[in-house]
Amino acid sequence: MQVIEDKYGRTFKTLRVSLLSTCNLGCIYCVQGDESLKLTNGAHPATSLPLSELLDTIRRLHAQLDLDTVRLTGGEPLLYHDLIGMIAGIRDLGISHIKLTTNGFLLQRLALPMKQAGMESVNVSLDAIGEEVFLQMSRRHSVQRILDGIDAALDCGLEVKLNAVIMRGKNDSQILPLLNFAFSRNIRIRFLEIMAMGHLHDQADKYLFTRDEILREIGRQYRFTPLDRLQSSTAGYWKTGDGHVFGVIANESQPFCHDCNRLRLDSHGNIYGCLSDNHPIALDKTDDENALRLKLEEALSRKQALKFTGSELSMLEIGG
Ligand code: 5AD
Repeated sequence: MQVIEDKYGRTFKTLRVSLLSTCNLGCIYCVQGDESLKLTNGAHPATSLPLSELLDTIRRLHAQLDLDTVRLTGGEPLLYHDLIGMIAGIRDLGISHIKLTTNGFLLQRLALPMKQAGMESVNVSLDAIGEEVFLQMSRRHSVQRILDGIDAALDCGLEVKLNAVIMRGKNDSQILPLLNFAFSRNIRIRFLEIMAMGHLHDQADKYLFTRDEILREIGRQYRFTPLDRLQSSTAGYWKTGDGHVFGVIANESQPFCHDCNRLRLDSHGNIYGCLSDNHPIALDKTDDENALRLKLEEALSRKQALKFTGSELSMLEIGG
């Protein structure tokens, strides 16, 4: 089969599937005001495709793209009614790496069944470790619940990474405490520059805490040297003198569009070639191979050449 590739040599190798567009936290960069359990802009109905249809779509995409990785996202994927069936279904398609991004709230209960169904790795989003700051960032209590979830995941042999979105004046005080927690558990942590998405799409500058500022903050306690960037990685990584590794996902300061290999599928069967692109391309179960290929080529053509340009969609709808 002919590879779908653009003029920069980019292909789709990682499929991110947003299983549903609701979440049980109300993180301030994702959800506006007090609408934490509603959709942010009402663009999509709340219902998702049935599991069998989503899986069939993943199967057809895999047949065209020979995917390396499927990452399940949301909304919050652990709220999906048949998450374990979804993971097992993806494993049975023969896709080598199955990963997931979660807020960790339901992880303690689900870590082991997920691992048994074929999950390899979980990224836990944790933007604060102090309870007060956590509440301000997520509008929910109980960091401890997430820490217990992380420990459950580690105990059953899942790979765990942490993601922390840093917002100026909101949680920049948490960089070192989060880093120290990650080092204490031997977990790789990545700090994210805030992206201009959703309700913040025109005011992310105000909250941007840059990669250099993050590094300066870490430098107050640690000495570190840069590591080589891996192909298609969103993060740059550094290693401390005592061998701990941390990363920064610097959307603004160091964009990584040039070798992006991600394709997104939302819970309604739409694909997106780029996070900056609000335009859903609807897949249809009657699409033949050719029609699907044309849609994938269109999605690929929507990737930015240089950098993320912002999107009115929030991660709630499109997945991280
Ligand atoms: N900017 C940066 N990161 C974001 N995430 C969600 N919205 C934003 C944003 N506007 C993060 C989540 C999760 C990952 C998928 O993306 O916290 O860690």
